[in-house]
Amino acid sequence: MNLKIVRTIVELRQEIADYRLSKPVNPSVGFVPTMGFLHEGHASLIRQSSASNGLTVLSIFVNPTQFGPGEDLDKYPRDEQRDLRIAADSGADLVFMPSVQEMYPNRRLTTVTVSEVTDRLCGASRPGHFDGVALVVAKLLNIVQPDRAYFGLKDAQQIAVIASMVQDLNIPVEIVPCPIVREPDGLALSSRNVYLEPEERKQALILSQSLSQAAEWIHEGLTSSQLVQRLKDEINRSPLADIDYVDILKYPDLGPIEADKQLSEVDNRVLIAVAVRFGKTRLIDNRLLNPAEVGAQLCFAK
Ligand code: PAF
Repeated sequence: MNLKIVRTIVELRQEIADYRLSKPVNPSVGFVPTMGFLHEGHASLIRQSSASNGLTVLSIFVNPTQFGPGEDLDKYPRDEQRDLRIAADSGADLVFMPSVQEMYPNRRLTTVTVSEVTDRLCGASRPGHFDGVALVVAKLLNIVQPDRAYFGLKDAQQIAVIASMVQDLNIPVEIVPCPIVREPDGLALSSRNVYLEPEERKQALILSQSLSQAAEWIHEGLTSSQLVQRLKDEINRSPLADIDYVDILKYPDLGPIEADKQLSEVDNRVLIAVAVRFGKTRLIDNRLLNPAEVGAQLCFAK
């Protein structure tokens, strides 16, 4: 199928209904929601959807409700033509590119708030952010009604929020978490990496490097608070790094880990998450691992 672009909800629903009515061999619909300025991380989600579903729908929508005052909504990078090339090359069939008016035509009276899993990390640093994410993802899932939806684990907290919402609201979709994609030198791919000045880009490597070392440090018998401190000290060796948070939580419930327990004895998936500013750019990265497994094995690693 050639890539088709639709901008309205009515057109999108019609295309998906036509597809399902055509009784295809593999009738499942995969969905990849994005805010555009696609990179290899998004391409990997599209490829994964395309490999498992008969139809892959990609949405490109810079959602204003998930940006706080003073955040980068107005300068969020956009490149429609490049996005469409990447979408086609990666195997998307249908691209939904609604306007803000199409998605939010009326004054909004409904909010979607997921509690507890939003208490820490980006939920604490960006108040209201996950309400905006939950609202737009709930709307998109209702509009597309996919069988599976694909999300990158760089936003591990976002996946926990969406998985809780889908479960609580009985939205009939499988949420598929996909591995973080990195540059060859380790920097996690992000549309916001284009904001980084060359020296900031160089120093930002401290995130992936310190997270890689964390798995080794766990086996020195550190507790979670000791590991948080070790990570902070390591990140602070980069003079341009301005730490927003470093935290270690159980995953996916994002509950705390007993402060005095050695991490190597925690038999649970744990998320080691960092958010750090380099100049005006706020980067996040994480490692999801099971410390009690030999070598603190990465979960969802490629
Ligand atoms: O991860 C993103 O790009 C956004 O938060 C999402 C899921 C597309 C919602 O706007």
